[in-house]
Amino acid sequence: MSNILVTGGAGFIGSHTCVELLNAGYEVIIVDNFSNSNPMILDRIEKITNRKVKSFNCDIRDENTLEKIFKENKIDAVIHFAGLKSVSESCQNPLLYFDNNIVGTINLCKIMQKFSVKKLVFSSSATVYGDTSLPPYNENMPTGSVSNPYGRTKYFIEKILEDLYKSDNKFSIIILRYFNPIGAHESGLIGESPSGIPNNLMPYITQVAIGKLDHLTVFGNDYDTKDGSCIRDYIHVVDLAKGHLKALSKIMSSQGLDVYNLGTGKGYSVFELIKEFEIASGKKINYIVGERRSGDLPCVYADTTKAEEDLGFKAKFDLRKMCEDSFRWQTKNINGFEDNITL
Ligand code: NAD
Ligand code: UD1
Repeated sequence: MSNILVTGGAGFIGSHTCVELLNAGYEVIIVDNFSNSNPMILDRIEKITNRKVKSFNCDIRDENTLEKIFKENKIDAVIHFAGLKSVSESCQNPLLYFDNNIVGTINLCKIMQKFSVKKLVFSSSATVYGDTSLPPYNENMPTGSVSNPYGRTKYFIEKILEDLYKSDNKFSIIILRYFNPIGAHESGLIGESPSGIPNNLMPYITQVAIGKLDHLTVFGNDYDTKDGSCIRDYIHVVDLAKGHLKALSKIMSSQGLDVYNLGTGKGYSVFELIKEFEIASGKKINYIVGERRSGDLPCVYADTTKAEEDLGFKAKFDLRKMCEDSFRWQTKNINGFEDNITL
């Protein structure tokens, strides 16, 4: 079975993808600098899968260490999650984001090229579609009208990968544009563990549900949508992880550069998500309605046709399951991985 190097494999999406890879029989090598994750997750991945994981504490910008990892390990393909992802932090410190995300990716690609590892899956975001088109977003729509440095790093990296492929068509690259991943592994052993106060909706809701935060602020109820709140395409992180295995199968057997949306194709409003979460958890979610958050679009959801037709990927889990699994994870890990629950 192939050996897959997973950058950012200790993070939220990376860890769930490692579980699916290991369960499918792949060998996994994680490279992570743990800047936004906890090494404890490695034990949890091993516990869920009953498999060993090789891991390296390494920053992908560290050329020497990364090169050594490529030299000493047989690597057939790379899934590249490592990156910083906070929109607000990227506005305060854009150079950090350009350095970490873009320089990191360039460094990784240089080393891949040097060692003739030319199969790559990259984590992009629906944010690259910006506000020039109307949903559902399909992969042929224009990209680049992004409103913040984080989104710009995704857009620039997509362009860098296109140029790399044009210059060396032995590469086989898939760019995945994620919509809104939520949920957690059913075991409750791995999930999203943001440091500090969450920026994203689901971890905020789960922390209100367990009483860690007092109330949620809904960012605007005056959008031109069914109930005035914003609409997003929430996808279960385990479905998202499985999408990576489909992408991997494709790059292992062909060359080219392709882009795919990973979403469900269904949009839910903030109020609908709150209601579904209340049913799934049996908890009341206190909320107030506040101002719109700058940069938010009223309605974002995917056209999933291309991923369905080319990759055979279709998300399976519904919103109820996403809420149940997010709640289970949060209940078992009140302070995320810091709780170090007994396995
Ligand atoms: P995450 O922060 O949980 O995981 C990212 C991992 O990368 C972390 O473990 C972090 O420590 C590691 N990392 C960061 N910079 C690194 C570096 N220079 N060297 C080595 N490791 C580094 O984030 P996530 O939610 O799992 O997202 C994974 C990827 O998917 C990111 O690239 C993110 O931008 C992208 N993405 C996420 C979402 C989302 O909603 N979560 C949406 C679209 C795209
Ligand atoms: C955000 C980022 C996006 C990034 C993604 C993953 C912005 C503008 N976009 O997506 O670039 O790829 O996270 O990191 O930040 N909401 C509330 N109250 C809250 C939090 C959120 O009402 O406390 C609403 C938002 O207005 C939005 C929805 O919930 O309509 C989802 O928000 P969020 O989880 O932050 O995801 P996005 O904004 O879609």
